[in-house]
Amino acid sequence: MRFLDERVKTGLSAFSLKLGNAMKTTDYRGYILVGVVLLLSGARAWTQDSMLAATPPMGWNSWNHFACEVSDAVVRAQADAIVTSGMKSAGYTYILIDDCWQGTRDAAGYIRPNAKFPDMKALANYVHSKGLKIGIYSSPGPKTCGGYEGSYGHEEQDARTYADWEVDYLKYDLCSYDGMGDQVAAYKKMGDALKKTGRPMVYALCQYGMEKGWQWGASVGGNLWRTDDDIRDEYYTMAELGFGQNGLEQFAGPGHWNDPDMLEIGNGGMTTDEYRTQMTLWCILAAPLIAGNNLAAMDAETRGLLTNPEVIGIDQDTVGMQGHRIKQEGPIEVWMKPLKDGSVAVGLFNRGWGAMPVTVDFRDAGLSSTTVIRDLWAREDLGSFREKYTATVPQHGAVLLNIKRGT
Ligand code: GLA
Repeated sequence: MRFLDERVKTGLSAFSLKLGNAMKTTDYRGYILVGVVLLLSGARAWTQDSMLAATPPMGWNSWNHFACEVSDAVVRAQADAIVTSGMKSAGYTYILIDDCWQGTRDAAGYIRPNAKFPDMKALANYVHSKGLKIGIYSSPGPKTCGGYEGSYGHEEQDARTYADWEVDYLKYDLCSYDGMGDQVAAYKKMGDALKKTGRPMVYALCQYGMEKGWQWGASVGGNLWRTDDDIRDEYYTMAELGFGQNGLEQFAGPGHWNDPDMLEIGNGGMTTDEYRTQMTLWCILAAPLIAGNNLAAMDAETRGLLTNPEVIGIDQDTVGMQGHRIKQEGPIEVWMKPLKDGSVAVGLFNRGWGAMPVTVDFRDAGLSSTTVIRDLWAREDLGSFREKYTATVPQHGAVLLNIKRGT
């Protein structure tokens, strides 16, 4: 019973209670039917909950801030900080080691970490001891983007090594495989190798959206796939990636997500309003929320942007629908994301200079003329509105609303 979730357990005990009572009478067929239905619906809920990446993965990755300065000590310090900063409680649970951890292969071809990672299994144990999960990075090519050892020709060995270390997540980055052959086959090879280990590992494809990765990513076992080139800690690159996701929404859903790359919030290259735009847009997009800053030296403002529960709730909504643009007028954009409870999240964005009024017309969001609105960043109910709502949005800024049907 350890592996059954509460709904399965409730279904089972309700079933045995009813069956027990029914046995005392003679008409037990109806009860058996009820029990079977309860079991089936419980099992479905269990499958959904236990699905890898049922909602977009949340965590921290070493690349954006530390690049090749990553080490065992850095990873331990980030694991400590993700807990003490409140990030773990907000939902960030994956600690992801990106490029530059690899050493050489042993005589049998097994990969060994370099000197900065003296004992990968001990590091994984440390991360797990904090109730977190650990991820690692490789490439289908002979070399990673940083020039370290890739998995080419060693896919099964590497997958087995990751499983032995109890790794929970693999980012697999095209790098030197580009031009070497059929990349779909290369990604499938590692997807199959991961499955063969029997250990559930989130499989993150990183091939920058080449060959429309979103069309075949899930078929090779991918749980997420990058849709574009690398993010930089700068507004125009971030905006091009984020706003460029429109149209890809049909490829995202529970277990398989479009990935417009990691968060830069807290790295210093953007204003608070620009970082708010990244968080707002990524949540509307149901994008993976992978922080890329130094969690051990995070100020209160950064923490506030990364951990607002109502904002994160939009990203993690269990129906798993990626949002899309419903209006664009020059530098003004309005996006909406349908939510499980029938309400919608609406993002109001100003990509231009100076503050500007941005209006959402409720009909564009598929809503009735009367609505009730809550501002999710401010965590404040705004009241009832008819036909439309307008907010003044700062330069390069965003407002995130939850809009429900009114009466
Ligand atoms: C590529 C990826 C980045 C990062 C680096 C590491 O550029 O897109 O996210 O993993 O490689 O070398």
